[in-house]
Amino acid sequence: MRVEPAAAVVGHVVVPGDKSISHRAVLLGALGEGETRVRGFGRSGDTQATIDAVRALGVEVDDLAEDELVVHGVGLRGLRPGRVDCGNAGTLMRLLAGVCAGQEGEFVLAGDRSLSARPMERVAAPLRRMGAEVETTDGHAPLVVRGTGSLRGIETEPEVASSQVKSAILLAGLNADGPTTVVERIPTRDHTELLLEAAGVRLRRRGASVTVEPAGALRLETVVVPGDFSSAAPLLVAAALIPGSDLTVHDLGVNPRRTGLLDVLERMGARVSVFERRRVGGEPVATVRVQAGELVATTVGADEVPRLVDELPLVALLASHARGETRVEGAGELRLKESDRIEAVADGLRAVGARIRTQPDGWLVAGVPARLRGGRIDACGDHRIAMLGAVAGLASREGVALEGAETAAISFPGFYELLESVTRR
Ligand code: S3P
Repeated sequence: MRVEPAAAVVGHVVVPGDKSISHRAVLLGALGEGETRVRGFGRSGDTQATIDAVRALGVEVDDLAEDELVVHGVGLRGLRPGRVDCGNAGTLMRLLAGVCAGQEGEFVLAGDRSLSARPMERVAAPLRRMGAEVETTDGHAPLVVRGTGSLRGIETEPEVASSQVKSAILLAGLNADGPTTVVERIPTRDHTELLLEAAGVRLRRRGASVTVEPAGALRLETVVVPGDFSSAAPLLVAAALIPGSDLTVHDLGVNPRRTGLLDVLERMGARVSVFERRRVGGEPVATVRVQAGELVATTVGADEVPRLVDELPLVALLASHARGETRVEGAGELRLKESDRIEAVADGLRAVGARIRTQPDGWLVAGVPARLRGGRIDACGDHRIAMLGAVAGLASREGVALEGAETAAISFPGFYELLESVTRR
């Protein structure tokens, strides 16, 4: 795909429903009593894998519309053993491992090549401590989870800051014999906690720890999914980068554990306003407006990383256009995402003229407040790199040839059309 330079990005948009919350709504709906209606569902390659997964385990899901579903819950221990293809979706595989640990019978969780290269011991080890039998394939998928129907509650402090790991443990804890506590050194996204509370589960949240009590039943009724901050991020970054841009995103999820990018944009000199703040089903939602500004370098450290983990590739692009040297550190987890994002971002941005050096856990970016030349970017089979490449093309002098653009559909099928609709040439 060719992406030609833009004169500006201007307009008002809404983006599809949040991917993290969409996965969780289907999984918790499947474990619920009766029907859960999901409105604003963010349908994508990843979330379709979650619908297909629960169907494979005996759950009926009615597709009412592209963005609306009804999930017919089978109860907390009602899943039918079987084999699931998780596709590219790490969130699905890790959360489902926690769910299956509390069922009876054997569940096999497989994934595509990229997912099969990602670490799974981080969920397997705590689930084993809870009493489930979990086999990995050399630490990776396929996973075999044999639930015993009698899990123990544990207290644990995962080594990595990961919402997926925390969520897997909490979901297993629903079917344990006592309280289960996860202590986090650095807080990660809390969509699982918010949705469990909405489903009537008692949670205790104290500082950096969360405890779930064994649950009798989940009752969700309706989940309204806000717009996905991570899907809006490439558009917001395009607006921050290209002089004269002014973009507003409506009905956007602004959970503070997801919006680290807004803080970085402000620090770097873009104009950011957040207004019409409200809560929808426990999740903060707002309108977000970003206007371009003269960008300056910044530093992003480990404590901030979970709040913008999926947006860090875009921070590297911003940094390439900012005056001074930007340092991103404490982000070693990026090497374990859908691709090695530290290398994929550096290769992609270098190929269009940026000056970026990799570190084991981040990048050093020497920015220049001018457009990059342009060139060819390979998405490396990674949806976030594909979207990064498109924004790099708009902000460049000569445009970008984007290899593997179609992989954006893993999280955001209509991305290029929406971006084009606000692009002025
Ligand atoms: C996600 C958590 C993050 C994020 C991923 C989605 C989630 O992963 O990178 O895209 O829905 O819980 P980790 O929490 O494992 O870092």
